[in-house]
Parts: sequence; C-alpha cells; structure tokens
Amino acid sequence: MGLKFSYTLLAPIYDAIVASPTQSMRKASLQRLHQGLPQKVLINGIGTGLDIPFLPEQHHYTATDLTPAMLERCQLRVKQHDFEIELLTADVMQLPFADNQFDIVLMNLILAVVPEPLKALQEACRVVKPGGKIYIMDKFIKPGQFAPGRRFINIFIRHIATRTDVVFEYLLEQCPNLHLLQDKPAFMSDWFRLIDLQKLDS
Ligand SMILES: C[S@@+](CC[C@H](N)C(=O)[O-])C[C@H]1O[C@@H](n2cnc3c(N)ncnc32)[C@H](O)[C@@H]1O
Repeated sequence: MGLKFSYTLLAPIYDAIVASPTQSMRKASLQRLHQGLPQKVLINGIGTGLDIPFLPEQHHYTATDLTPAMLERCQLRVKQHDFEIELLTADVMQLPFADNQFDIVLMNLILAVVPEPLKALQEACRVVKPGGKIYIMDKFIKPGQFAPGRRFINIFIRHIATRTDVVFEYLLEQCPNLHLLQDKPAFMSDWFRLIDLQKLDS
C-alpha cells in the first residue's frame, strides 16, 4: 500500500489522532517563523494544515502534499482562518520548483515519513536560497542507537504512515551544503526533535 493511498484513508481521522499530542511541539516549531521580515516560506507535506493556526501572517506561503484528500482538508482550514497560502499537489522528493526559490523550507512530520528522506532533504536544500533555512520537526533515532521497537514497527508502518528508523545524522552527512544550527529534543524525550539547518553560500 502506498502512502498516498493510506493518507487518503487516514485523512478523515488524521486531526483527531495527531492534533492534540503534537500541539505543543508544533507551536515550538512554528515559533521559529515568528521573527524577522516577510519571507518566502515553503511548507512541505502540509497535510490537513494543522500548522496553519500557528503561522505568523507576514510571510508568503506555498505548501505541498502528495495526497489530495489531505489537501482538501487543508483548503477548508485555510478558508476558516482566512489565510493566504498557495497549495500544490507535489512530491517532496521531486519538487516542482526551480533552484534557490525560498527563504525557508518547513518540514514538520514529513522528512521521516517519506520512503527516501535523503532525496527529500536534498530537494529542500536545492529549492532554498543560499543562506536560507530548513526547519525540521520529526522523529529520528541516533547513530548506533539500538531502538529495537522502532526498527521493528518500521517494517510495517513505513508502508502506511511513516518511517521510524531514520537516522538524521546520516542524512546530514550526505548534504555538505547544509550547516546544522540547532538540534533539540521536542517530544517523547528526544525521539522527536526540532532541527534548524542553514544552506551555505556556495
Ligand atoms: C504525518 S503527515 C504530516 C502532515 C503535517 N505536516 C503535520 O504536521 O500534521 C504526513 C503527510 O505527508 C504527506 N506525504 C507523504 N508522502 C509524501 C511525499 N512524497 N510528498 C509530499 N507529501 C507526502 C502525506 O500525504 C501526509 O499529509
């Protein structure tokens, strides 16, 4: 079963399952956008738009998701909040944007979801401007961490919802253009993390 199919089935119940447990780390994640001048922000894998109530209004937002059923719910949330955001059906592992387009790429619960997180990170790096930021909120295991439960459930859950075996450090090692600014625990001890990256001037 592909993720597009499973998220089509999950769309009607996604908010009921995810909104409440993620709310406080989501607020902390989006606090990172509450500073500075208006920016061009890309939100990758926006889902049903649970981020929207916490987004500051000064920026220009574009958002992607693979699953039309998730985006339909996001569109309703956009209307409810009278918010301006361009929504596109797109794959974060193959983004339909030219290089160096955005000041910020936000990746809340998407990098460790997709089958090839390295491709998704490389794509975020490609479309963000030199000096721009990539803000991540997701679950990772540490290099060498045994995490048998997470590695075991990954065998099943990766096909229907998310991977649980992604080692962020291994991804970063393969993206020499990205500099780590911050990496801090966000939820469930340090399973979920808030990670800030900056694209180096090349
Ligand atoms: C766990 S949800 C996260 C949604 C939202 N970011 C949030 O924080 O609630 C994962 C989302 O990623 C989307 N998705 C899965 N694979 C994708 C891909 N390759 N490209 C874009 N979106 C994808 C799913 O449709 C789903 O909406």
